[in-house]
Amino acid sequence: MKKRIVVVGSLNMDIIISTDRLPQIGETILGNEVNYLPGGKGANQAVSIARLGGDITMIGAVGQDEFGKSLLEQMERNQVNTAFIDQVEDVKTGIADIFHVNHDNCIVVVPGANFTLTPDKITPEMEQLIAQSDVLLTQLEIPLETVQRVLEIANKHNVKTILNPAPAQTLPAELLHLVDYLTPNETEFAMLAEHTFTTNDELATLMTEWESAYNQTLIVTLGEQGSAHLQDGKLVVTPAEKVEVVDTTGAGDSFNGALAISIAEEKSLPEMLAFATKVAARAVTKFGAQDGMPFAADLD
Ligand code: RIB
Ligand code: NA
Repeated sequence: MKKRIVVVGSLNMDIIISTDRLPQIGETILGNEVNYLPGGKGANQAVSIARLGGDITMIGAVGQDEFGKSLLEQMERNQVNTAFIDQVEDVKTGIADIFHVNHDNCIVVVPGANFTLTPDKITPEMEQLIAQSDVLLTQLEIPLETVQRVLEIANKHNVKTILNPAPAQTLPAELLHLVDYLTPNETEFAMLAEHTFTTNDELATLMTEWESAYNQTLIVTLGEQGSAHLQDGKLVVTPAEKVEVVDTTGAGDSFNGALAISIAEEKSLPEMLAFATKVAARAVTKFGAQDGMPFAADLD
């Protein structure tokens, strides 16, 4: 049977401005190109799962504007079940202003409709959906109280949980205790641990302390270096394939989607990471957050 996954998270229209450099405050420069492409960490992760063959339903919210309509269409085209994506009146669809500079980016997200997904919007039908899922995956572009609420529901029904703690912020211990798999990147992990690290040894020490404090599996993504986890108390780095990087937007999201499927399929940790690292390497070879995300068939 197909594994069931639920993503609770954001949908954004990504407004991607390609430019040679960023302007200073007060300065105007000419950019090269603008693109409007579907994004949002929640939506990206849902699309990653759909393309890899998962049965995926997303809980989220958009506005009743053109961006909202086009994001919903894009989700449907990708076989994501949109029955629980609310179209909210009098609020704008979330957007991300992405400045794409030299294959890298910086982003300003305006959550809009994503922040209307408050805990009271989680209906009994949504609870039932979560209860019947194998894995729940969520991020931090929706209200934190809602993240807490859906993690509580998942725990109540013994559903495995993944929290991708992005964008970076510190998190309360009571929320962290509800998470089975935590997937920060290095910056996010340094913020969560309230400690910087430079060497792998320092990283390993922090990760060991973290895992024993929260009794969860910690996976730290390392960009083009791959990802790190602990195996019998030792740091293991799963290296990423060397690829021609076009756009790193959504790389972490494709990783999390692949991880969710692997967890649903009860793969071993090294197998999960090999798979997710491979998926993420594919995703960065195309422009936009979702376009490069591979289909299951592309990976053989
Ligand atoms: O993780 C990438 C995503 O972050 C982009 O699609 C953008 O919408 C921001 O939310
Ligand atoms: Na991409």
